[in-house]
Amino acid sequence: MRLLVLGGTHFLGRHVVMAALERGHEVATFTRGLSGAPPEGARALHGDRDDPAALPEALDGWQPELVVDTSCKTRAAADNAAAALGGVAGYAFVSSLNAYRNWPPGPVGPEDAEPTWDTDEDGYGPNKAHAERVLAAAVGPAFLTARAGLIVGPHDPVYRLGWWLDRISRGGRVVVPAEGMDQPISLVDARDLATWLVEMAERGQGGAVNAKGPVGMTTYGGLLEVCRDVTGSDAEWVPVPEAELVAADVQEWVHLPLWLRQQEARTAWDVDTTRALELGLTTRPLETTVADTWAWMQAAERPPLPAHRPAPGLPAELERHLLEGR
Ligand SMILES: NC(=O)c1ccc[n+]([C@@H]2O[C@H](COP(=O)([O-])OP(=O)(O)OC[C@H]3O[C@@H](n4cnc5c(N)ncnc54)[C@H](OP(=O)(O)O)[C@@H]3O)[C@@H](O)[C@H]2O)c1
Repeated sequence: MRLLVLGGTHFLGRHVVMAALERGHEVATFTRGLSGAPPEGARALHGDRDDPAALPEALDGWQPELVVDTSCKTRAAADNAAAALGGVAGYAFVSSLNAYRNWPPGPVGPEDAEPTWDTDEDGYGPNKAHAERVLAAAVGPAFLTARAGLIVGPHDPVYRLGWWLDRISRGGRVVVPAEGMDQPISLVDARDLATWLVEMAERGQGGAVNAKGPVGMTTYGGLLEVCRDVTGSDAEWVPVPEAELVAADVQEWVHLPLWLRQQEARTAWDVDTTRALELGLTTRPLETTVADTWAWMQAAERPPLPAHRPAPGLPAELERHLLEGR
């Protein structure tokens, strides 16, 4: 079928293109052309989705039957897609858990029981919730919104897992959050999510789905252990209590990527994934995801961090300070 990927040149969108091509679709991507080309085999269409004229002009009469939307962050982007693509047979939209009013900190129960943002605020979560509403109204029952949690895997230009792999591979004494090692964490491999999104669009499956790794998948410490195994490192964990990390201005999620303070971690990872499992969202073994990400990081020229993203990882000086006297 004719499948349009909104996005498609990096990370999740790139994997969507690969999955759609493997499944025999005729694939076009729509991007501004700033972040490179899509995988070979897809036709690259260009324009800014915030511009109402850009998508109809780029399509130039080519009518997609299916859409996978990985690049929507603004209200205009959603409104313009709704105006141009309302008639498709399947539209799989990548939203976020941030569409929920109460996440973070969560917990998040079954999708239909949880309110999403309904304010006019120009923010990531409220914009995703707005997009869900306007696109659902335009597309109807064949609109699916995947409220994604943490996505990892090869081609991830944000390098949260990537920073840990780099740091652990260098070995030696590595600062880890003392109370954080037991906190639950769950991730979805971008390739699993991508294939599933294409399948959902093909089926014309509708509704909202919490698209993340299953509860109980692993712990923060478990993930770091896998990174140590995969990189063959001799890294030694140096646990630093949360109070000291906070006092030293260590930012959760950014300086120690994927780490949340206890207060938030208690509920943030507690997200109901029953519907995702029922609809066949699978999660490959964590070891495979981590090993493939590490292999990609070593083999490929690494893409730059997207604009406005803070560089992940513990600054060297802060690491030295935290290790002093331990
Ligand atoms: N990473 C996570 O853990 C996570 C968690 C929850 C949800 N999500 C959601 O997952 C989705 C995919 O994330 P991602 O990191 O793969 O992609 P992304 O950064 O959201 O999107 C990048 C893609 O969109 C294109 N793009 C960006 N702005 C555009 C515009 N104004 N007009 C046309 N194209 C535009 C980019 O190409 P050009 O730069 O060439 O335009 C690129 O192909 C996102 O919607 C994100 O909100 C991610």
